[in-house]
Amino acid sequence: MEFDEVIRGRRSIRGYLDKPVPKALIREVLELAMRAPTSLNTQPWNFYVVAGDVLDRIRKGNVERNLAGVPHSREFRMGPGYEGVHRERQIDIAKQLFAAMGIERDNKEQRQDWVLRGFRQFDAPVSIVITYDRSIHGSDIAPFDCGGVVNCLVNAAWSRGLGCVINSQGIMQSPVVRAEAGIPDDQVIQTCVAMGWPDETFPANAVVSRRKSVDEAAVFRGFDD
Ligand SMILES: Cc1cc2nc3c(=O)[nH]c(=O)nc-3n(C[C@H](O)[C@H](O)[C@H](O)COP(=O)(O)O)c2cc1C
Repeated sequence: MEFDEVIRGRRSIRGYLDKPVPKALIREVLELAMRAPTSLNTQPWNFYVVAGDVLDRIRKGNVERNLAGVPHSREFRMGPGYEGVHRERQIDIAKQLFAAMGIERDNKEQRQDWVLRGFRQFDAPVSIVITYDRSIHGSDIAPFDCGGVVNCLVNAAWSRGLGCVINSQGIMQSPVVRAEAGIPDDQVIQTCVAMGWPDETFPANAVVSRRKSVDEAAVFRGFDD
């Protein structure tokens, strides 16, 4: 695939075929993703790739604890909830997804079912938990570097026909993820990425999220034209 085709074609995938992903292909995608640049080439990231029974136990623990009201235990700062234009964009993508899935605004049951899918990592066959070395915890640079590699990862996967969704919901109950994936204490959990073969019949997979324009985002100074 051409670069533009990957970047423009990729979208978050939230419905997967019940078909395993070969370990060799995941290794290939990781190797490509790890070409991402990092601060001083420190490459602070690590990947815990889980599937099968291990991933099923993470899904189960995540759903059970969230339903039981166990407070979230993400290992990074969340800040206040989104407001203004950020809140508007958050609502906009939710509306697009709910419209595609036929989920009515006031149908609490359907909305809850969608949230639970997220906690189950959308039943993807693979989840990649991204961590970084705790020895450099405290700076914003390591999370920045993890963001860089995750962006490369989802695009590298797409270039090989695989779909992904970066899934904060999957690591909200970090002790479950840590225990089941065998993540040692010297690692900080940043996020996880659900991965698998896209189910082309799953309506939400067709949703193309909107972007603000370059004019809204970029300021140019000192140019002649
Ligand atoms: C840090 C981060 C966390 C995310 N967490 C979730 C999540 O928990 N559940 C979900 O459905 N999508 C999640 N997403 C996917 C975003 O909703 C998605 O990337 C965004 O709406 C743009 O859509 P696109 O990926 O299809 O271009 C996350 C994305 C990022 C970057």
